[in-house]
Amino acid sequence: MTNVLRLAIVDPDDSKRETLKNMLLGMDMIWLEAECSRYEFFADVVAQTNPDIGLVALDSDPDKALELVARLSENSPLCAVLVTSSVSDGQLILRAMRSGAKEFLTHPVRIDDLLGALGRIAERRAGPGDNRPRGSQVLAIAGSLGGVGTTSLAVNLACILAQNPKNSVALVDLDLCLGDADVFLDAIPDYTLVDVAQNVTRLDFSLLKRSLTKHSSGVYLLPRPVQLEDMALITADDLRRVIGLLKATFTHLVLDLSKGYSPIDLVALEMASHILLVTQLDLPCLRNVVRLMSSFNEMDGIADKVKIVVNRAGLESGHITLKKAEETIGKEVFWQLPNDYRTMIDARNNGVPLVEQSPKAAVTQSIAALAAALFSEEKAPAAEAAVKRSGLGSLLKLWPAKAKG
Ligand SMILES: Nc1ncnc2c1ncn2[C@@H]1O[C@H](COP(=O)(O)OP(=O)(O)OP(=O)(O)O)[C@@H](O)[C@H]1O
Ligand SMILES: [Mg+2]
Repeated sequence: MTNVLRLAIVDPDDSKRETLKNMLLGMDMIWLEAECSRYEFFADVVAQTNPDIGLVALDSDPDKALELVARLSENSPLCAVLVTSSVSDGQLILRAMRSGAKEFLTHPVRIDDLLGALGRIAERRAGPGDNRPRGSQVLAIAGSLGGVGTTSLAVNLACILAQNPKNSVALVDLDLCLGDADVFLDAIPDYTLVDVAQNVTRLDFSLLKRSLTKHSSGVYLLPRPVQLEDMALITADDLRRVIGLLKATFTHLVLDLSKGYSPIDLVALEMASHILLVTQLDLPCLRNVVRLMSSFNEMDGIADKVKIVVNRAGLESGHITLKKAEETIGKEVFWQLPNDYRTMIDARNNGVPLVEQSPKAAVTQSIAALAAALFSEEKAPAAEAAVKRSGLGSLLKLWPAKAKG
């Protein structure tokens, strides 16, 4: 957790401090180093614990609190001071800034504002260019044709990532109309994307986690709305906020896109760190890959994030060779997932992810190796050995020896 910000807080008002503390405790990006109820002790607390951020609530005694801010700026210059107050008048903000505060937040603190402030502080610490306060990875799984295997990959990749205890993973079903990620995980969720999107500004992080359905694999699922008509309640801006909030809470977000390339899907593409474009080696799929890549090239910053994943590699029936496919697309294929209909359909019908249902199957191992190639920290669980053990050595050639970017 190299990008975690260590924070110390002072607020003589116990209930306000508790509320703020609860909000902060739900955020993986924050490590609460110390809390204090007296302004006069806080400078010592900061000197001893050296937090990255000192949060000073002004309301109980603004003069005393601002004196403290000035002392902190002088004695602990590496600690960025963030102040909160229910009075947002210009004079107070000016005094706070002149005393050395780096950020001013109005009480009650909104999660969006807090995230923005923490992001700016993290950026100032890391230098420009990295506005992510922590290394949350957003994976958008898109497809070139219906039924190409997008959800199979999204669900199983999320479950494999969640096996690593260092990871916290959320899976969001953005196929708002017909999404079936819940079926793959045999989950009956209490809340859906529409509930979270509509309450995004009011949610704190623990409430957010409670709104998601935790699967036994460790994955938190945020499913599509139940009613078709509720789709319209989710706007692109809502989704941007939801993804922002999830990024502050989870190390990995896996977004299963629809094939409609709607404004919602475009937000996912825009906010993704990697886009896996799933295709099969047949004419309709590859023609769409070419069309999609041509549109992505017209969009800012999308095409470079795309990695082509060939699904059901090895499936006979009028297939185009990998070489021909790469020539047609004008881009290397990043990964190939072997064809294994029986294993895949059994996992889906039982509502059990591949890591639980068929951990040794070549397709499971291939998805694990894909996770490893995407995030070097992930260990492919002895993918090669498992394939050799199961006598599927010939499938190894379906996987690139080295991932190509
Ligand atoms: N590698 C694979 N080998 C064999 N069958 C597969 C493979 N991947 C997926 N399938 C099968 O293909 C079918 C469609 O998969 P899936 O639902 O994941 O596709 P999708 O792209 O999400 O579809 P939709 O467009 O409806 O969202 C399923 O029956 C699934 O079991
Ligand atoms: Mg799907």
